[in-house]
Amino acid sequence: TKPDQPAEDPVLKSFNLEAAAEYMSKCSNVVVMAGAGISTSAGIPDFRSPGTGLYSQLEKYNLPFPEAVFHLDFFRTNPKPFFLLAKELYPQKFTPTPTHYFIRLLEEKKKLLRVFTQNIDSLERVAGISTDKIVEAHGTFFTSHCLDCREEYDLEFIKEIIFKDEIPHCKKCDGIVKPDIVFFGEKLPARFNDCVHSDFSKADFLIIIGTSLKVAPFNRLLTFVDKDCPRLLINMEPAGNSNQDMGSGALLYGKKANRRDVFHQSTCDEGVSELAKSLGWEDEFNKLLQSE
Ligand code: APR
Repeated sequence: TKPDQPAEDPVLKSFNLEAAAEYMSKCSNVVVMAGAGISTSAGIPDFRSPGTGLYSQLEKYNLPFPEAVFHLDFFRTNPKPFFLLAKELYPQKFTPTPTHYFIRLLEEKKKLLRVFTQNIDSLERVAGISTDKIVEAHGTFFTSHCLDCREEYDLEFIKEIIFKDEIPHCKKCDGIVKPDIVFFGEKLPARFNDCVHSDFSKADFLIIIGTSLKVAPFNRLLTFVDKDCPRLLINMEPAGNSNQDMGSGALLYGKKANRRDVFHQSTCDEGVSELAKSLGWEDEFNKLLQSE
């Protein structure tokens, strides 16, 4: 077998979406790891898809490299590109996708232990998932803080200023006010560390959806689940396989893993409706989509 394929165990090899749904129907501690791919059908670009991803549309800001726009030291010297991008990225309408609603259905079915999202669009909250079930691992736009005195500001304060193409400054000390999204070089929110170890050791099913698994430490989470915990990746392209930089630690189908890993290659929305169908939740799922 290729290094990143499951071992030739007939049970494991036949473990597909159907078998995963059958297994999941008996689970009550499902953990979800979500990325930008779950919001692209809401009109919010992801980061790395060639051509449409955010990082391929930053030429006009002549950055040293695309991800600099989210680097703290770059931001301190030149916050302009970030706020221009924030304005461009500001969701005109906060409309969750079927994938957000599938995660909400998991909660309604009392199966959702937690959804760890890398997204900053807050669409999990808007979809009606209880906030205690959500970990926004890369922060959120909902609040902002002054980089110098840590004074807190709300979304309205920031929104008004960025739509005037200005830079938000602290009313108290004139420092730059930055939204609470996690920049490269910043620690992840305390809530991430509070939840991650207990959740991933308790998880009896892991769904990884709409992420390239390129960013640590988030991408290492999938290695934290128990060996018997199935890991279902729903994504348009393979992610987290062993031919990726081993340092990222995002290892799916590790040759020694011998796990129930499934890679279902489809859009997120198609994948979750397949899953809902296999679980016998099709009517409830469609009703939920219509009701919102
Ligand atoms: N259906 C399925 N997969 C999709 C869809 C879709 N509709 N749209 C995009 N994808 C896939 C892409 O093929 C890609 O593999 O989702 C993945 C998105 O990957 P990225 O753009 O790298 O986004 P993400 O993994 O969330 O990035 C992680 O990088 O820049 C940082 O902090 C930022 O949280 C972000 C982190």
